[in-house]
Amino acid sequence: IDIHTFQQDLIDWYQANKRDLPWRKDQDPYKIWVSEVMLQQTKVDTVIPYFNRFMVNYPTLKDLAEADQQDVLKAWEGLGYYSRARNLQTAVREVVAIYNGEVPNDPKVLGSLKGVGPYTKGAILSIAFDQPEPAVDGNVMRVLSRVLKIEEDITQQRVKKQFENHVRQLISREDPSSFNQGIMELGALICTPKSPMCMFCPVQKHCQAFAEGMEEELPIKKKA
Ligand code: ADE
Repeated sequence: IDIHTFQQDLIDWYQANKRDLPWRKDQDPYKIWVSEVMLQQTKVDTVIPYFNRFMVNYPTLKDLAEADQQDVLKAWEGLGYYSRARNLQTAVREVVAIYNGEVPNDPKVLGSLKGVGPYTKGAILSIAFDQPEPAVDGNVMRVLSRVLKIEEDITQQRVKKQFENHVRQLISREDPSSFNQGIMELGALICTPKSPMCMFCPVQKHCQAFAEGMEEELPIKKKA
């Protein structure tokens, strides 16, 4: 794979085809953080109205830190996985108390906050701070398992770490945000679980699974 051409094909496609989503209007790390937490177990279309309401009620990190927990959980009602909301509020309170209200841009510090796992950390660092860090979720593993023809069980934590290392090798140093969001967008719009639209794929020429006609066999998930 020619990494530079892959990056360019992916980023050019993303710039031309990205959805106009409310958390893509600016690089405010707080907004990116809230959106990525909401998007973890919930689809984009469901998240949009929740995100918009949340930003009306809690426009800044400080507003969320000072809010009543019951009100925050109420604003989360319907999104499910309420521990996400509780952890988010705990973490933003830590940011106010310890880091002067500024979202940390150091990977180790950011990753030490409640509920901020490798995915959320990488998403915030790349999208809000333009750092070349991986943000690997199920969509990213699906796309890369196909492009790189990785025939390992993606349900294993060890394999997820391998994908993070692949992204470290592949990611654009010039535009890590568009690179990571481009892979996410490709997974959402083109490189779907069933019947991926390879004819419209901007990285078809780089895709080993497509070359071998095995895109629908990947990724491999061995159930417990
Ligand atoms: N899913 C997870 N993060 C996303 C993002 N930033 N944009 C669209 N879908 C996503």
